[in-house]
Amino acid sequence: MIDLRSDTVTKPDDAMREAARDAAVGDDVYGEDPTVNELQNRVADILDTGAALLVPSGTMGNQVAVRTHAERGVISPDRIAATADAAHELGVPVHLDGARLFNAAVAHDVSAADYAEHVTTVMCCLSKGLGAPVGSMLAGPEPIIEEARHHRKLFGGGMRQAGIVAAPGLAALSNRGRLAEDHRRADRLAAGLDRVDGLAVEPPETNIVLVTTDRPAEQVLGRWRDGGVRASQFGEHTIRCCTHWDVTDDDVDGAIDAIRNAS
Ligand SMILES: Cc1ncc(COP(=O)(O)O)c(C=O)c1O
Repeated sequence: MIDLRSDTVTKPDDAMREAARDAAVGDDVYGEDPTVNELQNRVADILDTGAALLVPSGTMGNQVAVRTHAERGVISPDRIAATADAAHELGVPVHLDGARLFNAAVAHDVSAADYAEHVTTVMCCLSKGLGAPVGSMLAGPEPIIEEARHHRKLFGGGMRQAGIVAAPGLAALSNRGRLAEDHRRADRLAAGLDRVDGLAVEPPETNIVLVTTDRPAEQVLGRWRDGGVRASQFGEHTIRCCTHWDVTDDDVDGAIDAIRNAS
């Protein structure tokens, strides 16, 4: 089965499993897990934000950021649509949901820090294209991240010997360099699928390929699945295919063939 549902379906590789086994751990709720601290420092360096906090998921990273900012300023509903610059001018903090921040940076040929510099806080996921089994990072200036640490505990996100989670996260950071491969494969997949009758595909920007179907997406997905390809329904006539490190060049070609035969 070639699984294109999401870049979250990846299995941790040997490097991650070994890193988890060998991780030095401590109680991270007390800030005493050396592996978590190393991961947080590393991400803060990469994004040049001053500090970062490991959270169990992207959803929690966003919630913790909103809770942290909500106590710092007034965000009225009619100002939510304002741009980041206008928000800063008003003294309103801006949070960036950067679940796939590193993919975006690769796609636009800029550093992840170039994104982080415009916002107050940024959340990025280790568990998507980077392949870690668990974890997302909330990064921002040190005093804000210190407050976020408190809110993470209030939301039930305080973990104990979290080095087990942080160690594969650190190993995952070294996968940033290979995201371009996923993007190249997504391009190849998109071009191949666009030639299949009944499907239309725009060239993707990153590792996510959106396929428009002439028949209901649910029906099309069923046929793909029978042919050995899994993907996600994204709309009534839209299917999402995601390339990731468990998808090889041969898988892309195999998926195109299987989908053509299933159409
Ligand atoms: C843009 C975006 N933000 C947040 C999330 C939530 O991340 P998690 O599944 O780690 O909670 C996702 C998940 O796919 C996402 O795509």
